[in-house]
Amino acid sequence: MKPYLVRFLSIFFLVYPLCRPSNCQQSYQENRQLSCEQDSSEITEGYLCYGSAGPKTLCQSYVTFRSRPPYDSPISIASLLGSEPSSIALVNNISSIDKIPSETIVIVPISCSCSNGIYYQHNTSYKILTSTETYFSVANNTYQGLSTCQALADQNNDNDIKSAVGSNLMVPLRCACPSANQIATGVSSLLSYIVTWGDSVTSIADTFEVNEISILEANMLSLNSTLYPFTSLLVPLKSENCSTNPAKFFCSCANCSLTDGSTEDHILKPDGRKFPVKLVIILGIILSPIAP
Ligand SMILES: *[C@@H]1O[C@H](CO)[C@@H](O)[C@H](O)[C@H]1NC(C)=O
Ligand SMILES: *[C@@H]1O[C@H](CO)[C@@H](O)[C@H](O)[C@H]1NC(C)=O
Ligand SMILES: *[C@@H]1O[C@H](CO)[C@@H](O)[C@H](O)[C@H]1NC(C)=O
Ligand SMILES: *[C@@H]1O[C@H](CO)[C@@H](O)[C@H](O)[C@H]1NC(C)=O
Repeated sequence: MKPYLVRFLSIFFLVYPLCRPSNCQQSYQENRQLSCEQDSSEITEGYLCYGSAGPKTLCQSYVTFRSRPPYDSPISIASLLGSEPSSIALVNNISSIDKIPSETIVIVPISCSCSNGIYYQHNTSYKILTSTETYFSVANNTYQGLSTCQALADQNNDNDIKSAVGSNLMVPLRCACPSANQIATGVSSLLSYIVTWGDSVTSIADTFEVNEISILEANMLSLNSTLYPFTSLLVPLKSENCSTNPAKFFCSCANCSLTDGSTEDHILKPDGRKFPVKLVIILGIILSPIAP
């Protein structure tokens, strides 16, 4: 082999060590999101879309979120995650103003794109409220693991979150579009499921009525791999199941209206409905004694 060809091939394999995302699935982050300073590898920042970016650079996707006050209604969850209350209501078969019991898994439809050319993500924004918040607490506690401290630090060009109280962080949520291989097997979208204590691939497969092997493959896991709480696992959803089982949540979302995930869209729009009703009431109570 000619020397330059050898060099070219070795560079090629260095850049694409295992596979290209268009053909392969995504690797699981394990619990590397805990090492905010030490580990800012690609997998902690998001699911990859470089290379040929998969056949799709924009797709509909889903994430799970556990209802927890003050984010416990389609309106407040949509505002946090950059989704639409009506779409959340439709997918979860509830009304937009319903209060959802605590710790209920809510499925949130989002748009997902390869907009920065490296990671699939859904942009949303979050206003930092107190100086005790950190990139880790925002990613892990507020967003429940849908983002990571590494992705937040990287995309906000600011290592000092404390100076930013009152301003908006750009929050990239972990999502992915199906690979060519997945599309060939009928996968229409991917759900980013946030693992919690006690979960196993089997229990997650049962919850969403999907094949266990398809989850293992989608995340490049083996049967003996360990799952970690507050991390995201991709669950492949097949729309062909809609003809046999139209009650599946993602079958009702064909006509879901979704924001494009741009930061301004749900923040600057002076839409009173998007401000959590409960928060308004609480703020009202706190502020009223001060008011003249
Ligand atoms: C991450 O957030 C969860 C709540 O969603 C919390 O129980 C857990 O302690 C947090 N992890 C760390 C390391 O703080
Ligand atoms: C996990 O399973 C793979 C094969 O699926 C095997 O190669 C590996 O040694 C196993 N690891 C452990 C820790 O059992
Ligand atoms: C939606 O909820 C209503 C009750 O609120 C129930 O009658 C209906 O069967 C549910 N639909 C699905 C698809 O689960
Ligand atoms: C999301 O934010 C990134 C910057 O971090 C930007 O490159 C990308 O275009 C944004 N995507 C959308 C859909 O606005």
